[in-house]
Amino acid sequence: MKKALFALFAMVFFTSMIFAGGASESSAAVVTNADKPLVFYNRQPSDPVTGEIDMDAMNHNSATYYVGFDAAGGGAVQGQMIVDYLTQNAVDRNGDGVLGYVLAIGDVGHNDSKARTEGIRKALGTWNGTTDPGIVKDGELTVNGKSYKVVELDSRAMTGTDGSTWNANAATDAMLNWATRLGNQIDFVVSNNDGMAMGMLQASNYPAGVPIFGYDANADALEAIVAGTLTGTVTQNADAQAEATLRVLRNLMDGLSGDDAITVGITKADQYGNKISADFMYVPETKALLAMNAPVTSANAADLATGARDAGIKQLPSEVPSKRVILTVYNASDNFLSTQYVPALQYYAPLMNIVLNVVQGDGQNESNSLDRFENLGNYDGYAINLVRTNSAQDYINKIENS
Ligand code: BGC
Repeated sequence: MKKALFALFAMVFFTSMIFAGGASESSAAVVTNADKPLVFYNRQPSDPVTGEIDMDAMNHNSATYYVGFDAAGGGAVQGQMIVDYLTQNAVDRNGDGVLGYVLAIGDVGHNDSKARTEGIRKALGTWNGTTDPGIVKDGELTVNGKSYKVVELDSRAMTGTDGSTWNANAATDAMLNWATRLGNQIDFVVSNNDGMAMGMLQASNYPAGVPIFGYDANADALEAIVAGTLTGTVTQNADAQAEATLRVLRNLMDGLSGDDAITVGITKADQYGNKISADFMYVPETKALLAMNAPVTSANAADLATGARDAGIKQLPSEVPSKRVILTVYNASDNFLSTQYVPALQYYAPLMNIVLNVVQGDGQNESNSLDRFENLGNYDGYAINLVRTNSAQDYINKIENS
C-alpha cells in the first residue's frame, strides 16, 4: 500500500514537473474528445439509493474531476446551527415538552440532500440510520436545564408536478398541509435548501414567527434573514465552486496534470498572481475538489448580502489562449443554480479566457440536456451537471463515440 502510494506520488510529481511551464500552450487541436477534460459539478456522479460514488465515471480519463463542496461537513454545519438556535431560544409553542419539526428533503437521490438530512437528524438525535423520508426516531435536547423530546413530525422529498426535484411549489403545498394538520406541534421548520424554505414561507397559513432554516445563502434568503422571516441558512460558497469548476478545466486544457490541475490558481497562485480566496479540500479517492460551508444567521447575513465577487481572480492576459467549454445545467429553474452558480460562472469564465456554451435542462429529463450536449469536437473541455446522478455514463458514451 505504502509503495503504491509512493509510486502514485512520484508519478504525480513527475508529470507535474513535465507540464510545469507549459501552462499556456494550446494542445486542444491534437486531443481526441475521449481525452479531453471532463468536470462534473454540483451533482456528484453517484448511486441515487446508496449514495456510492460512480468511480467508473470518475475514472473516465485522468482529466476527469468532480467540483462541489463538503456535503457531509455542510450537513453537520446546518445541524449544529439549528441546535445552537434551539438551545438559545425557547421554541416549545404548545408547551408539551416536545420540540416538533417538519423537514423538506429536496431530492432523495442527491448526495447533497442526503448529507443534509443526515446532518440535521444526527444533530437533533432523530437519525435512524437512513435518509429516507419518515424513518426516524425521537431525539432529546436539553435547553436551559430542561430536557425536551425532539420529534420529526413529517418529511417530504418535494417533487414538483412536472417531476422536477427540490421544488419550491411542492414545498409551499406541503407547508399548507402541515400547518393545517399539525398546527402548533410545529416548533421549527427545516429545509435542505433555500428555494424550498422560501416556498414554505409563501404558504398563506405559515405559522408566523416559527423559526425556519434553509441552505445555500441565496440572495432572497439573505434578505429574508435580514428582514427576520428566515432564521438561518448555510453558504456552500457558489462563487468558489464556479471559480474552481472553470479553473480545473482551464488547468487541464492547458495540459497541467496531477497536483497542478487541482491547485494552480486555486490553492496556490498561478504565474499571474490569481488564486481563489476561499479554502478547498481535495478527496483523492473520489477525485473531488470541495469548497467549505459556513453558517449564516442574523449575525452575518448582511455582510454576505453584498454579493461581492472574489478579488483573488483577475483577468488573464490575452496571450493565454481562449478555450471553449460546453457546460450543462440540470435545471434552468433551479433556485440555487440560476441565481448563484450560473451568474458566477458567467462572471469568472471571461476572466479565465474561457468561452462557455451553457446548455440549460428541464430538471427531469436527462435527454433534454444530453441531446443538446453535442458538436463535442468544437470544445476543449466539458462540464456536466447531471439530471440523474447515475447517468454520467450516458455523457461519457457520447463523448467517446463522437
Ligand atoms: C443546492 C440546491 C440545489 C441543488 C441542485 C444543491 O447543492 O443546495 O439548492 O437545488 O444543489 O443540484
